[in-house]
Amino acid sequence: MAIEKNELRRVMGHFATGVTVITTLRKSGELHGLTANAFTSVSLVPPLVLVCVDKKAESYPCFEESKVFTVNILAADQEAISRRFAVSGGEKFQGIAYRDGANGAPILEGTLGYIECRVTTAVEGGDHTIYLGEVEQAETREAKPLLFFRGGYREIGD
Ligand SMILES: Cc1cc2nc3c(=O)[nH]c(=O)nc-3n(C[C@H](O)[C@H](O)[C@H](O)COP(=O)(O)O)c2cc1C
Repeated sequence: MAIEKNELRRVMGHFATGVTVITTLRKSGELHGLTANAFTSVSLVPPLVLVCVDKKAESYPCFEESKVFTVNILAADQEAISRRFAVSGGEKFQGIAYRDGANGAPILEGTLGYIECRVTTAVEGGDHTIYLGEVEQAETREAKPLLFFRGGYREIGD
């Protein structure tokens, strides 16, 4: 018998991760973004990463429509941004510093770095879809990461 949903969430919470905001856009150009930690690197040649997106997320149609996304790796002082992008609806980008990326998706300011991607493959993953993206551009800077562990935000050294 398969494990129960809340128990799986609790167990997976023991796997410490960084926190990202995945930005993307609709065909109309409307900007979207969601907090995500189901993100990983997949391949170096070709350069591929993946993100798992809930089919119920408002941002979900963007991945098919624009075929682009940008992974923004949050810094330790960006917990408020993570919380904002973890709730559906509202003007998520209001008052947030960002610029337009080469792929059209917003690049958030003050992060540890960003990875601009173009969707190559969508794989069925239950209530999520796994989007593989080819990395077109990426940059990083020195800063401490925001972490997520056992349902809470952490910093290195906590
Ligand atoms: C730490 C954290 C990690 C999350 N990881 C994911 C994820 O990997 N994939 C996902 O679809 N939702 C994830 N979520 C939930 C989304 O951020 C949330 O459903 C959000 O409201 C989606 O925004 P949208 O409906 O505007 O697209 C995560 C939330 C938090 C707080």
